[in-house]
Amino acid sequence: MNILVVGGAGYIGSHVAREFLDSGHQVTVFDNLSTGMRENLFAEARFVEGDIHDYPAILKAMRGADAVVHLAAAKAAGESMVKPEKYSVQNLCGSVNILNAAVEAGVLRLVFSSSAATYGEPKYLPMDEKHPTEPENYYGFTKLEIERILAWYDKLKGLRFAALRYFNAAGYDPRGRISGLERNPANLIPVIMEAAMGMRPSVQVFGDDYDTKDGTGVRDYVHVSDLARGHVAALEWISREDRSLVVNLGSDAGLSVLELIEEARRVTGKPIKAEIVARRPGDPASSYASSALAKRLLGWEARDSDLGTLISSTWAAYKKHA
Ligand code: WQD
Repeated sequence: MNILVVGGAGYIGSHVAREFLDSGHQVTVFDNLSTGMRENLFAEARFVEGDIHDYPAILKAMRGADAVVHLAAAKAAGESMVKPEKYSVQNLCGSVNILNAAVEAGVLRLVFSSSAATYGEPKYLPMDEKHPTEPENYYGFTKLEIERILAWYDKLKGLRFAALRYFNAAGYDPRGRISGLERNPANLIPVIMEAAMGMRPSVQVFGDDYDTKDGTGVRDYVHVSDLARGHVAALEWISREDRSLVVNLGSDAGLSVLELIEEARRVTGKPIKAEIVARRPGDPASSYASSALAKRLLGWEARDSDLGTLISSTWAAYKKHA
């Protein structure tokens, strides 16, 4: 199939593009390189530099595609609470343009990067797809709104979609083919890596008095290569079944902040100073998925999301920039 990967030069998008290429598909990456990187592009994929707000450009890129994967969005939950306008424009307006262009071009299969942020504060664990969706931040709200618009476009326009609710995306291609580093990262694993590289003095641990195994926050870190395989499997499923799908992609395991730091010390051989600071507002103690639906429908399971692979694959990418 001809796959248009919108946001394909980004951290997750480049892994998704890689996986579609590896599965024998033709890939066109559409990206404005605002957070995406040239370094993340592959020689075998066509590249169109363009913006999702440029409707004629996205429509043109859509022509000839069999399916579109949409990963072009802003993704910092904290920032979305102080700059909601940015998230309205990028995540809402931008997505609507992509959906409209897909429908106009007759590309009626779409994979959408959604998020566990659509659930909000966990009411029970593990979180399955039946968990209430009450986003705690504006970022999560934008993802949920697009899921809802997608459901309408399915009904009204026959657009079949897979909305993939990612948990905490982490890791780098274990074969070392992708190494673009995110600028100004706020997520835990890149922060730990920057401390190991000496780019920051320490890792601030946001609270050690949670009701968890060691008092620090527990999350479901799912390897980006596992996520990427989920996109291919989901597209195959919606194509075969001619139905839409909303599904979690997680490792279903909970790792604590201290477990990640400890493993990073082991893998990097660096001391990595940890400093316990106050809790970050809005952080739940624990969050992890049930990916039973993905397993049942797609035959998908995380296989690179173990602690060792998450940290060692990320360190390999960082070391290249040392
Ligand atoms: C993980 C854990 C922190 C940084 C966010 C978004 C979510 C999703 C993924 C896109 C928590 C702790 C972190 C640090 C720390 N994004 N931490 N020191 O908050 O689970 O999820 O990213 O879809 O929408 O909200 O990820 O990496 O920020 O934090 O102690 O410097 O690490 O408290 O327990 P989070 P995170």
